[in-house]
Order: sequence, then C-alpha cells, then structure tokens
Amino acid sequence: MGLSSAILHLSYKFRLLLIFIFCIMVVAWATSSYLVDTVQETPKAKSLVENFRNATMLEKENQKKKSMSTVEEVPTVKSTVSHCPALSPYLQGPSKLKFKASLTFEEVRKENPQVAKGRHRPAECSALQRVAILIPHRNREKHLLYLLEHLHPFLQRQQLDYGIYVIHQAGNIKFNRAKLLNVGYLEALKEENWDCFIFHDVDLVPENDFNMYTCDKQPKHLVVGRNNTGYRLRYQGYFGGVTVLTRDQFSKVNGFSNNYWGWGGEDDDLRIRVEMQKMRVIRPSPAVGKYTMIFHTRDRGNEVNGERMKLLRQVSQVWKTDGLNSCSYKLLSVEHNPLYTNVTVDFSVPPKIL
Ligand SMILES: *[C@@H]1O[C@H](CO)[C@@H](O)[C@H](O)[C@H]1NC(C)=O
Ligand SMILES: *[C@@H]1O[C@H](CO)[C@@H](O)[C@H](O)[C@H]1NC(C)=O
Ligand SMILES: *[C@@H]1O[C@H](CO)[C@@H](O)[C@H](O)[C@H]1NC(C)=O
Repeated sequence: MGLSSAILHLSYKFRLLLIFIFCIMVVAWATSSYLVDTVQETPKAKSLVENFRNATMLEKENQKKKSMSTVEEVPTVKSTVSHCPALSPYLQGPSKLKFKASLTFEEVRKENPQVAKGRHRPAECSALQRVAILIPHRNREKHLLYLLEHLHPFLQRQQLDYGIYVIHQAGNIKFNRAKLLNVGYLEALKEENWDCFIFHDVDLVPENDFNMYTCDKQPKHLVVGRNNTGYRLRYQGYFGGVTVLTRDQFSKVNGFSNNYWGWGGEDDDLRIRVEMQKMRVIRPSPAVGKYTMIFHTRDRGNEVNGERMKLLRQVSQVWKTDGLNSCSYKLLSVEHNPLYTNVTVDFSVPPKIL
C-alpha cells in the first residue's frame, strides 16, 4: 500500500513536471520563430520607413524648426481595422515609365475594369481621404491617355478614394488653365464632398508612387523635378505642374485668379495667395517628387501671357474679388466616361456683370 501510493504520488509530480517542461518548450519555440520573422522583415520594413520619410519629407528651404512634425501632420489613423494604413502596402517606389505609341483608350479601359466614371476606392479598407484630380485640357488626347494609363494604377496603389475630372475648354479663345481648375473644383464638389484637390497638368506623369496624392496641413507642391529640367526645381518658389490643396485651403485663398489667358503666371499667383494666408508650401524630397514630362511644342491658343508680370503685382489688391467667387462660365456638358468625368466649358461668352 505505502509503496504503491508513493509511486502514484511521484508519477503525479512527474506528470506536472512534464507539463511544465512542455510549456517552456512551446514558449521558447514561439519566441524564436517570432524573432526569425522579425529579422527577415527588417530590411523591407526599413525601406518602407525610409520611403515614407522621403514621401513626407519637406524640401530643405522649408525645413525650419517646425518641419519635423510633418509626419504627425499626416492625418492620423486610428487602429480600427476598417481604415486604410497610413502607408499603403502596395507602393512600389521609383519606376521607369514607358509610353507606347499605339496605346488606345480601349486598352487603358480594359486594364482598369474596376474603375467606373473615373472613380475608384479600395475594397479592403476605408480610404484616409477623398481626392479629386483635376486636369485642364484642350487638344491633348494622347497625353491624357498616357496620364490616365499611369495614374489609375498609381492612385489605387496609394489606396485612395479618388475621382479624375478632365476640364475641357471648348472653343478657340486663349487657354485659361487657372479658370478651368476653378471650374473643376466647383463642379466636382457638386458630385461629392471631396476632401482634397490635386491640380494636375496633363503632360506630367509621376514616377514614384511614394509621392502621395493626399492633402496635408499645408499646401503641397509635388513636381520637385522633371526629366526635362534634369530633375531640378524649375526655380525657387515654383508652384506649377501638380499642386495639392484641401477643400478649405483652396477656398480660403479664393481659388485661382480667372484672369490669366495663355501660358504662365497663374501658378505664381496662387503661391502669392497661399503665402498671404500665412500658409507655406511643402514638398516631398527630390527622390520622390519626380515626373516625366511628355514632350510637346507650345499649343496654339496657349501663347505666353505677356500680361502676367502686371497681374502678379496686383494679387494683394484683387484676390478677394477675383477667384472662385467670381468664376462665371458656360457649362456645356458633364459626361461620365469610364476613365474620367469630362466637364466641358465655354469661356468665350463674356461673363455677365452680376
Ligand atoms: C530616399 O531619399 C534618399 C536621400 O534623398 C535617397 O538616397 C534614397 O534613395 C531615397 N529612397 C527611396 C526609396 O526613394
Ligand atoms: C522626358 O521623357 C519623355 C518620355 O520618355 C521624353 O519624350 C522626353 O524627351 C524626355 N525629356 C528629356 C528632356 O529627356
Ligand atoms: C469632352 O466632351 C466634349 C463635348 O462632348 C468633347 O468635345 C471633348 O472631345 C471631350 N474631351 C475629352 C477629353 O473627352
């Protein structure tokens, strides 16, 4: 009796010991495999972090004390499953762009079956911002096609809820890029309460998808360099090509001036408006803010605007009455094509004095 109960007791203790050892082994195994995973993930994570830093880094001239807070200025994401991450996992970084001479609209449409009426949003998460891309246009169908071909996948990799609007100027009077962009803003807001606006030239294609098409606390200028300027900023203060303002930032400066007919000046005018509102222009790093400019000669109807220097001297006197609040136009049509919304306007009718 005494002996057998001792054996029973011993085996009970022994069993406890076995369970204890087993637990230790499980913990040790789990920890080691976690460490291995972490080690494997590190280089990728590092490059992601670096790219993210590049994407949100300011240009040096703007890097005063406050600039370090830019990362925090990016709209913060709560850790709810339904929101998209601050940094999309689909970004690919720099790419060499190709433009096939024989490309057709039909091909681009087939490559983007999930895009309807120029719009798309991620299915797996809710996007951080609703972004409208506004492209002023006349006689540049081929450039538009190349831009759409690259921009749709680019914006999808950034996990944005976006819509592309082409603002088409009908008629033959001089081209007015700025006024077309005002029209785009006003018309796009009739369809959707967009948070963020990208004012986008038709001939500039972004090369690096870490160049985020999203809004920040400050207006953003995305074309730090393009292939035809050796990827350098055209000049100190350049604010043209592709610029990014929130709905409120753009309305605060009363939009663009409506008075720039022909090429040049309207982008500098907008920068002056921005600076007058004590906002400052931020930019991504040169490695990220790269564009390819599709070659073309100056279009007829878009000759250099000789008035631009004179207009630029008057901004502080006229901005309150020349802009979104005085933008009159004749809307000819709003067509919803698969890859973009075509807003067509006529500026040749002289605006009525209200
Ligand atoms: C980030 O910027 C640095 C310095 O400008 C550059 O050397 C690096 O290649 C960039 N990384 C990416 C992934 O663009
Ligand atoms: C920029 O790239 C485009 C497209 O590849 C090309 O047509 C154009 O000639 C390039 N510009 C310069 C100055 O290299
Ligand atoms: C936009 O619509 C107008 C009017 O139908 C048309 O003339 C023009 O070619 C269209 N532009 C684009 C880029 O689709």
